[in-house]
Amino acid sequence: MRITVDGEPHDVPPGRTIAGVLIASGRSSWRTTRAGERPRGVFCGIGVCFDCLVVVNGVPDVRACQRYPEDGDAVRTQHGAELPT
Ligand code: FES
Repeated sequence: MRITVDGEPHDVPPGRTIAGVLIASGRSSWRTTRAGERPRGVFCGIGVCFDCLVVVNGVPDVRACQRYPEDGDAVRTQHGAELPT
């Protein structure tokens, strides 16, 4: 399966979450906070903290640690609060 992250293609093995894809690609943060633009990535890893938010196919606030990608998904890093497009 193949997805893009900020336009860059990534081959994804089965069973890997979007957070897993991002970590495997060497990223430790992929979102910024609304106040102060502070970097965030995985904190809890179990869907509780909402630190790992990404935009998937134009839908913001998707928890990367809980979402298994589907072929062709376009994942984008999220900056502050974003509204659906
Ligand atoms: S890392 Fe906490 S919700 Fe994803």
